[in-house]
Amino acid sequence: MTKKKIAPEQLRSRLWFNNPDDAEMTALYTERYLNYGLTREELRSGKPIIGIAQTGSDLSPCNRHHLELAKRVRDGIISAGGVPMEIPVHPIQETGKRPTAMLDRNLAYLSLVETLYGYPIDGVVLMIGCDKTTPALLMAASTVDIPAIALSVGPMLNGWHDGKRTGSGTIVWKARQMMAAGEIDDDGFLDLVTSSTPSTGYCNTMGTASTMNSLAEALGMQLPGSAAIPAPYRERGQISYETGARIVDMVFEDLKPSDIMTREAFENAATVVAASGGSTNAGLHLPALAAECGIEFDLHDVAEIFKRTPYIADLKPGGKYVAKDMHAVGGVPILMKALFDGGFLNGDCITVTGKTIAENLEDVVFPEDQKVIYPTSTPLSPTGGVVGLRGNLAPEGAIVKVAGMSRLEFTGPARCFDCEEDAFKAVEQRDYKEGEVLVIRYEGPKGGPGMREMLATTAALYGQGAGNSVALITDGRFSGATRGFCIGHVGPEAAVGGPIGLLKDGDMISIDAEAGTISVDLSEEELAERRKSWRPRETDYQSGTLWKYAQTVGSAEKGATTHPGGKAETHVFADI
Ligand code: FES
Repeated sequence: MTKKKIAPEQLRSRLWFNNPDDAEMTALYTERYLNYGLTREELRSGKPIIGIAQTGSDLSPCNRHHLELAKRVRDGIISAGGVPMEIPVHPIQETGKRPTAMLDRNLAYLSLVETLYGYPIDGVVLMIGCDKTTPALLMAASTVDIPAIALSVGPMLNGWHDGKRTGSGTIVWKARQMMAAGEIDDDGFLDLVTSSTPSTGYCNTMGTASTMNSLAEALGMQLPGSAAIPAPYRERGQISYETGARIVDMVFEDLKPSDIMTREAFENAATVVAASGGSTNAGLHLPALAAECGIEFDLHDVAEIFKRTPYIADLKPGGKYVAKDMHAVGGVPILMKALFDGGFLNGDCITVTGKTIAENLEDVVFPEDQKVIYPTSTPLSPTGGVVGLRGNLAPEGAIVKVAGMSRLEFTGPARCFDCEEDAFKAVEQRDYKEGEVLVIRYEGPKGGPGMREMLATTAALYGQGAGNSVALITDGRFSGATRGFCIGHVGPEAAVGGPIGLLKDGDMISIDAEAGTISVDLSEEELAERRKSWRPRETDYQSGTLWKYAQTVGSAEKGATTHPGGKAETHVFADI
């Protein structure tokens, strides 16, 4: 048990509710909270104020179940002696937001930082789930550095089609094929697609949501066993209660994100991503989160870990099973147990339980009679399911998901498109040849702006059965559910003069996911010559936050953040 360090009279919130040096403001502030029914005893007797950073809303269906779970979180907070206050977070819905939810990761981050900093919050429960909600909330908590604990909304239940499991979204290409062949109509198309998403919760494949929620657990930021509990299960309500109770103790223990999210914890998290064949988006969010913590951990550090980690979880989209199956065999703790026993995890990292990873895993027994998670001695493949690439086409790196892929090398002529819409049009009209490398550029953080996912084009290619006969490279991103030879995050991006912007149709591109290389058959002299006449493409976005984002966003290699991060901080943000 961690020794308590903070006395009630030392809580941050006393400066708002019980501040003898500023009695007038204290009274003004307190009366507003009393107005809606809180009592003086709750606000002035040294109970910690616990924020519940709420990402569920009607606009965010993947996380909507958090509106219900927050009630159990409140119960847990009150039972442990805290006062809950629910905080709305800027909505982020991966599939709903146009032009891209990447912009909203940083927006939600910024707004939550201001909220946590500027209001009387002593600790916070981070209600995470749909892709960007997890990095956004973890980033905000680490910037402000007050005690924080994450709570996943949970994955949805299994979908089925023709007696087989269908991961969320993975049936779209088949439905598209059937509609094109006239086998199903519009309603049939929707019926088939929705058969893979049968309940509330986030995507159940090891796409970005499951990856980031597993990652939050591996980092030590949510209770062990929490990430994979399906959203509708009773254990989801129970762990919500326990999470609410735990954060109150964390406040008195002064257990902060900076104690938990260390360099070693980031290495553990990247290891879990690689072992589970997680989303390439982790290669973007991990560096961004590390930057908030003041830790240098970029795409290349992530790629190094990917290279030395065995791939041991047979999860869709590359494998056979989905999140509910993972929960049935014990969830993330079993994956971590396998990695820890194999010597791939640092067991000394402290977690939200107040104990280390090794202590959390003490009573965990690896189940032998299952085929979802393998021991590291008999992996699905000896290296991670995601691979980092580098070469003269991507001096700052690139990333490719290889889990479930049989082909790891590709050489072919470039076919260049300056936005996804143009590429999608060509693919829809089957205006491409086998063996080509489709290049979609000016879709990076600055160029997009916002680094969109090239989901429509990859789904169409896969639907046409061309997933293995053409390669696709982009300075944008891919969905965690993308399949095929798809290389994203190519940096530097075209918008800042990266080599991807200098390519012409017919240039020969070689990709080797085994060696970790990506190159174009052009000399340095030729690239320099082309650079002389290169001009950045004009952007159409001159208003709203997109313009501002494009001016400030950094490279994908460092996580595409819009601010210097923890290393440049001259004081702890929450110091008051
Ligand atoms: Fe929200 Fe997949 S789109 S979790």
